[in-house]
Amino acid sequence: MSIDVGIIMGSRSDWETMRHASETPETAVDRGLKVIIAGAGGAAHLPGMTAAKTRLPVLGVPVQSEALSGMDSLLSIAQMPAGIPVGSMAIGRAGAVNAALLAAAMLANNDATIAAALETFRKAQTDKVLADSDPTA
Ligand code: RP5
Repeated sequence: MSIDVGIIMGSRSDWETMRHASETPETAVDRGLKVIIAGAGGAAHLPGMTAAKTRLPVLGVPVQSEALSGMDSLLSIAQMPAGIPVGSMAIGRAGAVNAALLAAAMLANNDATIAAALETFRKAQTDKVLADSDPTA
């Protein structure tokens, strides 16, 4: 099985957030990677620096920081200068989960197995909501 998505972090302490990207639909150019997910907190240079060094799409996950609750991470990742894009996700766990799902959606355009897995995941998610549609019950 080839590995299509690489996950990198600014620090070991980012793992508590980034494990959610790793655990959601499992799946550098020379290694055959197709998408990179980069998580970092604070003055989060890692996703931008990574994007500057590779033509691969980079999805940046702002890790929630202690000082500014991740607003610093978010702005550091979102405000890239024109020419070097980084896909900026939500702060924290939601961003990590969605980075994995967005990476899967990108890969699904050319991979029927990933497309089927993503559709199964989405259907299960919808079914779960429909099965428990009365929040007052
Ligand atoms: C950033 O600084 C890392 O991405 C991490 O979110 C933050 C804190 O790192 P540690 O002090 O926990 O190593 O570079």
